[in-house]
Formats: sequence, structure tokens, C-alpha cells
Amino acid sequence: MGFYSKYILPKLINCTCSVSTVSRQRAKIVPMAKGKVLEIGIGSGLNLPFYQKDQVKAIWGLEPQGELLSMAREMGETQDIPIRFLQASAEEIPLDKQQFDTIVITYTLCSIPKAEQALQEMIRVLKPNGQVLFCEHGAAPDPAVLKWQNRINPIWKRVGGGCNLNRDIPGLFQAAGFHIPNLQTMYIPGWRPACFNYWGNAIIK
Ligand SMILES: C[S@@+](CC[C@H](N)C(=O)[O-])C[C@H]1O[C@@H](n2cnc3c(N)ncnc32)[C@H](O)[C@@H]1O
Repeated sequence: MGFYSKYILPKLINCTCSVSTVSRQRAKIVPMAKGKVLEIGIGSGLNLPFYQKDQVKAIWGLEPQGELLSMAREMGETQDIPIRFLQASAEEIPLDKQQFDTIVITYTLCSIPKAEQALQEMIRVLKPNGQVLFCEHGAAPDPAVLKWQNRINPIWKRVGGGCNLNRDIPGLFQAAGFHIPNLQTMYIPGWRPACFNYWGNAIIK
């Protein structure tokens, strides 16, 4: 791992993910988490203050990047919920099957190299009646914006730690075997190619 990925990128991710427009999106999704929760790509732990203590028994925070995980651990110390941290990738979740009531994933499906494999892993560890709560940016519905997303994506991915601008978020969930009972979309304020948001819940078909 180079200097940029190890030292600069984690701070950049923490900064860009802390903006108020993104926090407003977190507030729409994270408070719905219940029971035993797995957060995929917990990053610097910015979702932690949004969990409802009276609904959540415990949180497992999975994150492959060590620097981000350290920031999440620090954030975790200020929360009143039992949290365990795992340094691992979503493509190979080192946990037993069918144990989580809720999986939370925010602004991460864009960056997971093998998103399809990660979604299969989520199906494996989720209880049959559990749900995935997600909020992601992805492919825009407007052809002009999508054209720019496709054009810029190769460079964006290199500077953004593997982040893709143009992933079809609902399509990925559906192809993996999820049904999405509630899906909402909008452009959050900001640069449109990076700001088309999808959020909702996904359940196993
Ligand atoms: C833009 S950040 C979002 C962080 C956090 N979810 C948030 O909402 O602030 C993308 C995250 O995806 C994580 N990530 C990248 N590849 C991953 C993988 N294979 N498995 C799990 N997480 C991954 C990154 O390390 C980073 O924490």
C-alpha cells in the first residue's frame, strides 16, 4: 500500500464522508437498524452516532483499511453500544452464517472490488428474516450525467480508493438475490456525477 492510500486517502474519505448532506442521508437509514448489526465498510465510524441504543444489541464493524479502522475504534469509544471491529473484506466475511438481524452499508458498495461476491456473503451472514439497510451513490438516471460518470470513472477510481461513480446499485442487489421493498433516490446537493443517491432496505428473496 502506497503513502497516498495509507495516510492521505483515509483522511480524505473521513472528510468527504463527514459533510452535512451525507450526514442527512445517514439519518434516514442508520436509525432503523435493530438487534445484532453488521456494518460493512464502517470506514471512520461516521454512522456510529446514528444507531439507536434502545434497538441495537451489538454492532460488528467490518473494515479492511487499518487507518480507517483506528478512527472507527476511536469513535466507538464514545458510543454506549457494544461494538466489535474486524479488519476484513466484505468478499470474505470471517463470521458464521445467519446471525445478523441488520446489515448496514453506506457509501461502500461503490468501492468493493467484487460487489457481487460481497452481496452473497451478506446473504450468508444475514438471518433469513433480516434486512440490509443501504445508502449508496451510483449510476444516475439522466443520460447526460451517466455519460460523465462513465467517462470520469477510470480516473475517479484511481484517486478515490477504488470508488466507482456508475454502479447500478438496485441492479446489484437484485442480481444477488435481494428484493428491495423500499427504494428512494435523489441527487443530494453537490457535483451531480457523484451525488445520485439510492437508499432503502433489501431483504432476501
Ligand atoms: C467512501 S468510504 C465509506 C465509509 C463508511 N461506510 C461511511 O459511510 O462513512 C468506502 C469504504 O469502503 C471500504 N471498502 C473498500 N473495499 C472494501 C471491501 N472489499 N470490503 C469492505 N469494505 C471495503 C473502504 O475501506 C471505505 O471504508
